Amino acid sequence: MSQSHKMWGGRFADKPTDIMQAINVSLPVDRRLWRQDIAGSKAHADMLGRQGIIAAAEAKTIISGLDQIVQEIENGKFPFRDEFEDIHMNIEARLKEIVGDTAGRLHTARSRNDQVATDFRLWVRDACGEIITMITTLQTTLKTLSADHAQSVMPGFTHLQPAQPVTLGRHLQAYDEMLARDASRFADCARRLNESPLGAAALAGTPYPIDRAFTAQQLGFDRPMASTMDAVSARDFANEFLFACAQAGLHLSRLAEEIVIWTTPQFGFMRLADAWSTGSSIMPQKKNPDAAELVRAKTGRLNGNLITLMTVMKALPLTYNKDMQEDKAPVFDSFDTLALCLQATDGMLATATFDTARMRASAEDGYTNATALADWLVMNLNMPFRDAHHVTGRIVKLAESKGSKLHELSLSDMQSIESRINQDVLKVLRN
Ligand code: ARG
Repeated sequence: MSQSHKMWGGRFADKPTDIMQAINVSLPVDRRLWRQDIAGSKAHADMLGRQGIIAAAEAKTIISGLDQIVQEIENGKFPFRDEFEDIHMNIEARLKEIVGDTAGRLHTARSRNDQVATDFRLWVRDACGEIITMITTLQTTLKTLSADHAQSVMPGFTHLQPAQPVTLGRHLQAYDEMLARDASRFADCARRLNESPLGAAALAGTPYPIDRAFTAQQLGFDRPMASTMDAVSARDFANEFLFACAQAGLHLSRLAEEIVIWTTPQFGFMRLADAWSTGSSIMPQKKNPDAAELVRAKTGRLNGNLITLMTVMKALPLTYNKDMQEDKAPVFDSFDTLALCLQATDGMLATATFDTARMRASAEDGYTNATALADWLVMNLNMPFRDAHHVTGRIVKLAESKGSKLHELSLSDMQSIESRINQDVLKVLRN
């Protein structure tokens, strides 16, 4: 025993080499599962006691030991030890130090395979809730800005070329809609993953008279997973989470790109608060939208994390394979990354100011009211749209040659191209 592994070393004479330990250890990553691991163990111990699989007093001892471990971890007193591989064995090893040999009964009718699957589902479920809250906060900011700028005319773009006048409110409303779908993707992920793997044990279930419905209910799951083999193998819930993160990040990257564009002096639609921008160490005039650029860039990590786990899981035979230990790092990283991006985007928007006069002038400069003119010709002169398009094109050309905007042309200028135009047209040319 002294040379071999403390937790599973019964049949081993030698202890693992340092490199073996280094490749095998997951504690630095999976210690983030501690709260879920203890919740799962408490539910399991409680169930073992109720079912008479262990003595009720033993269950009580185990549960109070686990409660003490919660205190230790919260107070930074818990001894995290790499030699115990992962969070599960660290907690069990500490439990043994606290309650003695009774700790050894906790792992009855359980394997680390169903244990880690349970912990991870609980963690991702919580993470979905936290992300939804952050998305909702950003949506509130967008809704407020949209309402404040319901009348703020700006150019709407296609191909990043001025297309038709819109309002800033309508522009931002589009992002609010995207985020609503993102939030629903996280809700969907949390709902679909909400079945309990606990009781699947290593893969084939267990001969003890366990009560899977009880532990499922204790942990807030809707029901036990129907297939024990699926329960320990499935990580599609993590992939779904990673996709939801990647998609939300992608939406944020589009908004971030607009912030980068709008804050250039050339556009000048938007100004970031000092607290949400940075200066240049060499060019004193600069005010850079670094947070927006980083939100834009972090899409790369979010996409990468999705591909990482999809690739780890591809073609793995049933059931548990150690490959699957690589599932947590991308999920934790995507959560942290998306949380940061959501908060940074909210911070930038909530404190930014918009130059509405400049936005309106830009909408006028770009002949974005040309479509409105064409539509006027159709509706008032009963022209076929193609003809109206042509006539409008000629009027735009005339305005361009005079260096004026459409509404600055005189009625006779326009009538020189289409004699039936009357002054009623002016009301659609003004934004
Ligand atoms: N640290 C492991 C993981 O995250 C726990 C499960 C280990 N199971 C096993 N059969 N070795 O996947």
